[in-house]
Amino acid sequence: MKILVTGGAGFIGGNFVYYLLGKYPEDKVVCVDKLTYAGNLETLEEALKDPRFTFYKADITDRRAIDGIFDKERPDAVVNFAAESHVDRSISNPSVFLKTNILGTQVLLDACRKYGTARYHQVSTDEVYGDLPLDRPDLFFTEQTPLHTSSPYSASKASADLLVLAYFRTYGTPVTISRCSNNYGPYHFPEKLIPLMITSALGGRPLPVYGTGANVRDWLYVEDHCSAIDLIVRKGRVGEVYNVGGHNEKTNLEVVQTIVSILGKGEIVYVKDRAGHDLRYAIDPTKIRNELGWEPVTRFDDGIRRTVDWYLTHKEWWEHILSGSYMKYYKKMYGSGR
Ligand code: NAD
Ligand code: DAU
Repeated sequence: MKILVTGGAGFIGGNFVYYLLGKYPEDKVVCVDKLTYAGNLETLEEALKDPRFTFYKADITDRRAIDGIFDKERPDAVVNFAAESHVDRSISNPSVFLKTNILGTQVLLDACRKYGTARYHQVSTDEVYGDLPLDRPDLFFTEQTPLHTSSPYSASKASADLLVLAYFRTYGTPVTISRCSNNYGPYHFPEKLIPLMITSALGGRPLPVYGTGANVRDWLYVEDHCSAIDLIVRKGRVGEVYNVGGHNEKTNLEVVQTIVSILGKGEIVYVKDRAGHDLRYAIDPTKIRNELGWEPVTRFDDGIRRTVDWYLTHKEWWEHILSGSYMKYYKKMYGSGR
């Protein structure tokens, strides 16, 4: 199988590239990434040495470039991770979120139609369901929960989901969608809660907790998300949405305190809350478990220790991000062309 992975220089896309290369010796992986501030070719350093891997620097909203790549590569499946993904950035500048997350999805869907791609998979998020109250632990997001978004980011992701389902209904495009809870693990960009707290504690900077730290997220180790997507792409039913999560709910304060206790350092400070801050996310993964037999394998206690260890042993990776030097990697690898 030849799989085109967009956003493969980012956190989850990068982990997915390694997941595929590790699990399927016969498969080829084509990665398309614009290398925005969140894309880091250093993440793909090992993959770039593998003859089964090809990298294109391209914007998913650039129809000509995307059609050109489809024309040349003729992928069997497309997995779309490429997105603007940080809620706080969507609050200060929504435009690029709408462009990449919605129009970019449209360009990819059109290319799949044009080249007869056998499967388009949209990597979506539990944030499309809005949030749940803190005092109702009995409630969970199912695939039937209405879309009810809070931030420009989640609104753009929900819009993309609707477009994907519209292409299925109108044109019969063979699509699937996964809606996953919060991921953590290696290569997570240090603007997001867990890597921000680890790198800040290591750098002697304060750990900024929004509001009171009582908001709840449902954490999933990134490899478990990769295995879910892989199953959906190969065995999932077209036109279907699958929720992905492992019943691992934690308050933000619990997560930060766990990191402080593993590292033995870190000073928590309470800062102004995020505008429109979602209270609680919690996924009901019954459908993917019953239909596809998916189960997460990494418990939070193990995953968070492994993640902290990864940041301790990969200081160069995140120090290059903090210093900005990771942006020069593409030039070093490719000069100005591809
Ligand atoms: P990320 O921000 O780490 O990576 C995004 C990648 O997309 C980067 O490599 C970036 O360069 C690339 N990109 C951005 N705009 C592009 C464009 N116009 N053209 C081509 N490439 C572009 O994001 P992530 O956390 O790895 O999330 C990946 C996907 O998974 C997103 O679609 C996100 O909505 C979804 N998701 C994330 C989580 C999470 O916890 N991080 C959970 C559920 C779903
Ligand atoms: O649920 C899936 C979503 O998870 C994905 O769709 C998003 O792409 C991904 O970024 C993530 O969104 P969150 O907003 O939940 O993640 P973030 O790491 O930004 O924040 C997690 C929680 O921690 C949230 O309640 C806000 C809080 N927070 C975050 C930061 C960056 C803090 O308290 N302090 C911080 O400095």
